Amino acid sequence: MRVDIVLTAQSVKPESVRGKICVVIDVLRASTTIVTALANGCAAVFPTETPEEAREIARRWGALLGGEREGLRIEGFDLGNSPLEYVPEKVRGRMIAFTTTNGTRAMRACAASDALVIASFLNGREVTRLLQEKQKDTLIVCAGTRGEPSLEDIVCGGMLIDSLGAKGMPETERAVALWNEHRNNLAAMMKTDSLHGRTLVQLGFERDIDFAAGLNEFDMVPVRRGDAIVRREDHG
Ligand code: MLT
Repeated sequence: MRVDIVLTAQSVKPESVRGKICVVIDVLRASTTIVTALANGCAAVFPTETPEEAREIARRWGALLGGEREGLRIEGFDLGNSPLEYVPEKVRGRMIAFTTTNGTRAMRACAASDALVIASFLNGREVTRLLQEKQKDTLIVCAGTRGEPSLEDIVCGGMLIDSLGAKGMPETERAVALWNEHRNNLAAMMKTDSLHGRTLVQLGFERDIDFAAGLNEFDMVPVRRGDAIVRREDHG
């Protein structure tokens, strides 16, 4: 089982994902939000690249609309991209058409992969368990921010690589080193050393960062089924 990491959604090429499991990470905040929504009973999340596509899916399936542009809820959408909004009272039993600037784009970029898994600090242990069980070549896809690597995504990737014991390549070694450097101060790292984290603090989303820093809060793995992301136990 070989494990590689790419640092931005833009670096994902169809030929680099074929035959592999892709693990998409966008800690701030798309993957954290999807994990939270599904853990709180959401039936399925449809990741889309554009708000128009999300609106079309919502019309067709009666789904809620969720997501952001510039970090803020899109006009006319039911939910933004704060994981704290995705509470059981709002999402239980509902489908959500979801679009974000980088995270959902990274998920769509992995369309040619054999399988897609969504990871965050909240569900790292369970993602590791799944990858250990599958023993397949894996590409960890850090979404990054507008084509630039995001520290928190690499640190989360490093956590997975470390627990899989899959070191060896310079990029994976570097990710594990960053995980070891920041593992005891994840929230502080995101608030001070991450460009996107600092932007979120300025926008008033500091509580989202504290929440996103929670380790292994959910024993649940979101996986792709058709065009949707669902809880793995629903997938079989
Ligand atoms: C993204 O996909 O770009 C992020 O999730 C943005 C955000 O924090 O809302």
